[in-house]
Amino acid sequence: MSETKQRVLITSALPYANGPLHFGHIAGAYLPGDCYARFKRLEGEDVLYICGSDEYGVAITLSAETAKRTPKEHVDIFHKINKDFFDQIGISFDHYSRTTCDSHQEPVYAFFNDLLKNGFIEERITDQLYSEQDERFLADRYVVGVCPKCHYENARGDECGKCGTAYEATDLLNPRSKLTGAPLVRRATKHWFILLEKLKDRLAEWIETKKWKPNVINFIRQFIKDLHARAITRDSDWGLPVPLEGAEGKVLYVWFDAPIGYISATMEWAKLQGDESKWKDYWFNPETKLVQFIGKDNIPFHAAIFPAMVMGQNLPYKLVDELPANEFYNLDGKQFSKSEGWYIDLEDFFRSYSADQIRYTIAANAPETQDSEFTWKDFQSRCNADLLGKYGNLVNRVMIFAQKNCEGKIPSPGLLEEIDNTFLKNIKMLCEESREAYDTFRLRKASQLIMELAQIGNTYFDAKHPWKDVKNPDTFPRMETTIFLCCECLKALAIVSYPIIPETASKLWKFLGFQSEIETIRSKEVLSSPLESGISLGKSEILFRKIEDTEIETEMEKLKKMSECSLKSKSLKTKPLEKIKEAIDISDFQKIDLRVGQILEATKVPKSKKLLQLTVDIGTEKRTILSGIGNRYTPEELISKKVLVVANLKPALIMGIESQGMVIAGLGEAGPELPDVPDLPVGTVVQ
Ligand code: MF3
Ligand code: ZN
Repeated sequence: MSETKQRVLITSALPYANGPLHFGHIAGAYLPGDCYARFKRLEGEDVLYICGSDEYGVAITLSAETAKRTPKEHVDIFHKINKDFFDQIGISFDHYSRTTCDSHQEPVYAFFNDLLKNGFIEERITDQLYSEQDERFLADRYVVGVCPKCHYENARGDECGKCGTAYEATDLLNPRSKLTGAPLVRRATKHWFILLEKLKDRLAEWIETKKWKPNVINFIRQFIKDLHARAITRDSDWGLPVPLEGAEGKVLYVWFDAPIGYISATMEWAKLQGDESKWKDYWFNPETKLVQFIGKDNIPFHAAIFPAMVMGQNLPYKLVDELPANEFYNLDGKQFSKSEGWYIDLEDFFRSYSADQIRYTIAANAPETQDSEFTWKDFQSRCNADLLGKYGNLVNRVMIFAQKNCEGKIPSPGLLEEIDNTFLKNIKMLCEESREAYDTFRLRKASQLIMELAQIGNTYFDAKHPWKDVKNPDTFPRMETTIFLCCECLKALAIVSYPIIPETASKLWKFLGFQSEIETIRSKEVLSSPLESGISLGKSEILFRKIEDTEIETEMEKLKKMSECSLKSKSLKTKPLEKIKEAIDISDFQKIDLRVGQILEATKVPKSKKLLQLTVDIGTEKRTILSGIGNRYTPEELISKKVLVVANLKPALIMGIESQGMVIAGLGEAGPELPDVPDLPVGTVVQ
């Protein structure tokens, strides 16, 4: 009977410890990885699921510096926050490490040294940007300048935020330091390059053996064709120092060390298991299936650059076998962004909702072949219509019925009718289909199948009306058959839903009277052997509560408010305030005749975009005044509005019209804003 277990090594992209994660990340690399790991564990495979924080790199030193923290303090904070978040949402890593851990340096240096010995790394002198003021070289993220292509003023050191062009920081016009604004000069310095073009042919051959998503394969084919040498070192003091003499002040580029983090995390795991060399059973075993879950922005590094690094090694590390790459998951149409107030506060979220509710919502709408998004309305409907209305409903009615009418035990089935046989056949079929869906990384499909399974259970329960059969001794056994088969359906439901909603599935498992924990079972065995009649059912409870419309409206309102607030505070922050003008005497001020006026007429000035011609009553007379507020206000909304008028401004000819005074406005985000004027009589002097 001894089946050989398949070794499955699963990784999810190591997230930067540089800010809090959000549901967008979860949907890309973590929930899919976790569901696959849970699925494979139930299948009885030898699963190892590895991840950790990506903690080096210039993006981190930059954020740390801006937050006035050391890089180490910075990554310590976000390593913990992100690890806790993974726990909260139920990501079942076997080990979550970090690239600043002790076990990381050794394999990274081994990778570097093999690549160097084998002629894949070369030292080159190149020009880099140097700040004479700070006496240091500045790596790309520290540099801003004018885009060489579109001339955008604030282009980043590695790519233009406006036109998207990627370039070297040295290509920028007028480069300056992002932190101090100091001008930068080109200066020759030494860096190390990985000669990727030497591995082109091997990569090209290897990629053709893969049956990945067509968009991934097509992208990578082209990417491999264009491969060229890339710098793998940076001028920085945060990172693993280049292990060579004469390399002071240089560290390895974060994308060189980070993927090796998958290996060092496995080494650390092995050490914690008390068997230091156990990591080799996974990484050096050609029979291991290596499955790496990533978001689409990480494709080049996982499908070409890291594999190239592995190909340049003397040790037989595994190359990736499966690379499920997901598209982006947004928040109601836009990318999640904490700085723009476009995010969901996780503490608030988990106070009101459960991990399974969000896991199911993400899985059911997973960004598998195109970008998808979280909306509160969708969340409500997945939770209410599916989890509560289909899944929860079936569990609830079967459990309550069995408690009441079957002495709280799993009854014995009697003779099976055709409807019963069909039901059993359909349960089996849906289980098979769901295996196939999980095995091919299709969580949307798996979610659908779960609900289908619940629905055939509901339909069967209705069709067999056990509530009628229970009343008559002749049909009593028929009722017992029905409830027995409903319990079979619930058993299948627990197993099939466990990868996506593990907490709920574990509860359901206990309701069915099992003493074991669901994560320890073998799904195949359990599904192929019938339930034991006479076993006492566990105590059941409501699995999902209804989410009310009012709750969802409040959530949507909160999101809108947060993003408005952040827009406002941002425009205040980004626009430096003007200096206070030179002091004047009170007599200077008193020269200005400021009055309350009321707009009687407003028309657009022909051929001008923003000028409006106003007729303003200032008490003593009516004035014609031209005002540049036409972008912000329509003529109609201005009629009868009270405004402040500089009444003694010398008339001026503007576009052929004489303007007799000025209406006061302040320049806001959306254009000039008229200040609120108290409801004083027209002509009142303001001073
Ligand atoms: N930290 C990277 C990101 O979030 C992913 C690194 S994956 C690894 O985009 F392979 F480098 F580990
Ligand atoms: Zn540009």
